[in-house]
Amino acid sequence: MSQPLDLAAARAHTSATSFKDAWQARLERWYAHPGLYRWSLSNPFTRWLTRRRTRKLFDLMAGFVHSQVLLGCVRLDLFKALHLAPANLIDLSSRTGLAPALLQRLLLSAVALGLLEHRSHGRFGLGPLGVPLAQHEGIAQMIEHNHLLYQDMQDPVQFLNNAWSGGMAEYWPYAHKQSAPAASEPNEARAGVRAVTQAPCEAEVDKFTRYSQLMAASQGFVVQEILTSYFFDEHRCVLDVGAGKGRFVSELAVHAPHLQFKMFDLPPVLELAREGLQAKGLTQRVSLHPGSFLDDPLPKGADLITLVRVAHDHPDAVVRQILQKAHAALPVGGALLLAEPMAQPESEAGQPEASVDAYFHFYLLAMGAGRLRTPQELQTMMQEAGFTHVEQVPNAMPIHARILLGRKSQCLP
Ligand SMILES: C[S@@+](CC[C@H](N)C(=O)[O-])C[C@H]1O[C@@H](n2cnc3c(N)ncnc32)[C@H](O)[C@@H]1O
Repeated sequence: MSQPLDLAAARAHTSATSFKDAWQARLERWYAHPGLYRWSLSNPFTRWLTRRRTRKLFDLMAGFVHSQVLLGCVRLDLFKALHLAPANLIDLSSRTGLAPALLQRLLLSAVALGLLEHRSHGRFGLGPLGVPLAQHEGIAQMIEHNHLLYQDMQDPVQFLNNAWSGGMAEYWPYAHKQSAPAASEPNEARAGVRAVTQAPCEAEVDKFTRYSQLMAASQGFVVQEILTSYFFDEHRCVLDVGAGKGRFVSELAVHAPHLQFKMFDLPPVLELAREGLQAKGLTQRVSLHPGSFLDDPLPKGADLITLVRVAHDHPDAVVRQILQKAHAALPVGGALLLAEPMAQPESEAGQPEASVDAYFHFYLLAMGAGRLRTPQELQTMMQEAGFTHVEQVPNAMPIHARILLGRKSQCLP
């Protein structure tokens, strides 16, 4: 059984201590035994295990330094500069303006992390982890953007007490002012988003421009996951809700030339999308529907609705509302495709990807009222909104996004 991430809302567990609990307690006692560390290092069969665990713990402790090395390389533009053009320390020193003795610390650290590697004649080239950074602008932009998150989290306990007062909350204008849009709630909670559907001031427009640009730059991997995992042949018109500047729609338009599109997003965001769609010659195939899913119904006429990296930005009540509106907007036989990073299901516990959850738990908290959900939680929410045959579409890189699909098989939820 999957456990809801909202643990406070989870039913208290009253069952007796299980066999698993007893086993875990026994393991913990073994790990804590003062002689175990020495014994396991002296034993060739267990040494690797202890070394690996020690390395992992060290990496956790050093994680901040690792991400700052990454940010330093991005800020000095080293990945692009060294792509297929290795260079030596002196050359890089004159290009970056940093003294060789200091720059060397950064370069050797980047080598240690697999971002760069040593090449002949004392030169540095890209390591296996550096190559994608030279090729995908979106990764570099996310690394730069994460700086805001890490500033907010400098004191993690204070951050937990006061999560929405930092640079990340400021960055995302729609995500932290809203709460569950229950009819009985004071409207103040929804004012942040409602204001956006009226004319925003220049400073607000700048915020929408900034995050929409970042989203478009970073959406590439998610779009690839969707296009390579789901067949769009049966559909005729796709409504992308929270469509941003339209990168997904533009790439899907090339991938599936028979499709027509509708894009729904906040008015300032769709204004930004218009120009790009014109430049790509897509205005005949894409109609724009500005609005807020907190206040407005979703437009009808599409037989597939997509929600890409939208649900995790919002609290449960808002997600329920979006899903109900999606159900209402679809014809019988229509489908909803929801794609976003999701929490590691318990069945996959212990796999290395699980550590990705830690990032998203904190990112989404710093951003606003949303949260990371397991696929099972989202599946249940989709079913509660009336969707049937809800299933996970297998995809190659769940770290970018997992994909859920549900059908509308009857008029009423
Ligand atoms: C995290 S971004 C994802 C954008 C795009 N789908 C992607 O994956 O890059 C969430 C999108 O939802 C939009 N959004 C947020 N609140 C909204 C609302 N109340 N009504 C309509 N769109 C909204 C934002 O403007 C933004 O474009």
